[in-house]
Amino acid sequence: MRVDRAKLEAFVERAFGDVGAAMTASLVVLGDRLGLYRALASNGPSTSVELAGATGTSERHVREWLRAQAAALYVDYDDASGRYGLSPEQAAVFAEESGTACMLGGFQLAVAAGRAVDRLEDSFRSGSGLAWHEHDEGVPEGTARFFRPAYVTHLAGTWIPALRGVADRLRLGALVADVGCGRGVSTMLMARAFPASVFVGFDDHADSIDAATREAETSGLAGRCRFETRGAKDLPAADWDLVAFLDCLHDMGDPVGTLRRARRALADDGTVMVVEPRAGDSVEDNLTPIGRVYYAASTLVCTPASLAQDVGAALGAQAGEARLREVLASAGFAHVRKAAETRHHMVLEARKT
Ligand SMILES: C[S@@+](CC[C@H](N)C(=O)[O-])C[C@H]1O[C@@H](n2cnc3c(N)ncnc32)[C@H](O)[C@@H]1O
Repeated sequence: MRVDRAKLEAFVERAFGDVGAAMTASLVVLGDRLGLYRALASNGPSTSVELAGATGTSERHVREWLRAQAAALYVDYDDASGRYGLSPEQAAVFAEESGTACMLGGFQLAVAAGRAVDRLEDSFRSGSGLAWHEHDEGVPEGTARFFRPAYVTHLAGTWIPALRGVADRLRLGALVADVGCGRGVSTMLMARAFPASVFVGFDDHADSIDAATREAETSGLAGRCRFETRGAKDLPAADWDLVAFLDCLHDMGDPVGTLRRARRALADDGTVMVVEPRAGDSVEDNLTPIGRVYYAASTLVCTPASLAQDVGAALGAQAGEARLREVLASAGFAHVRKAAETRHHMVLEARKT
């Protein structure tokens, strides 16, 4: 077969652009850690001297960083003044931590997950897994920050109200388990929205549970939500009104066993909410820019995490609705309904009857 020169050049160009994106990811992490974006957002357009002065950093490093950011179109450059600045949209993505467009967590996650590449090389050869706690600490922190904008936008306002009767029950006072809660972003958002209810977050990653506990204490939510280091299959029976799994079921080794346990621990008329990355049922459906991110995260983190546990079902982060319905049916749920869907997520509601 002959190489088509024009196609080759276009493909090399594309791959070269991806090399630029991959290298830029570390620069975003630097800008985040050093407060460079936040200073640009609060001080307005700045020269490298001004930005270095405002952030207590070295001008020569900052000058090169700014040029790289401008080439990536992550900051704007004004040639006449020699100043670099953030447009409102760039600021929303890089400087507004609690906003709904923040992407800093995605970059943090990508860079931190990449640190496992040597161990993953061994895993690929041996078939062994790589547990959540074996990753760089940027993985759990980056994951929490990555999902936060979607949860802020949809969880209390759209997803819970889409579940039959659940929002009313939470307004009156209900008992909620957030299983695989990580650093508890979803648990605390729900606790803020439904002050009459009690929320318990469970995760088997002790460092995440410690971080969640500290955050609940400092934000005054400790009375309404608490966190426990506990595996999902050990969820205590407590007549839970709602058991939630947010972006974590596919990370678990035994999703069917975990859901069976949740079904037993649930009140008879309780609800299980499974939030998973949105995906089509065939691989082809997911060969998209969004699928690219989730398949990559799944290869680096989620699939190895599941393979490191008993059963090792390794659903993958793009399992698709049909596969998730099969898992819920195998766990004994008679009622399963897709309650909501966004660009990135699907929300499944499951009940005993
Ligand atoms: C992708 S993170 C999602 C965390 C959190 N729900 C969020 O959306 O930010 C997956 C979480 O599942 C947890 N996890 C994986 N397997 C688990 C298990 N068997 N029992 C409890 N937690 C588990 C991991 O420790 C991790 O915190």
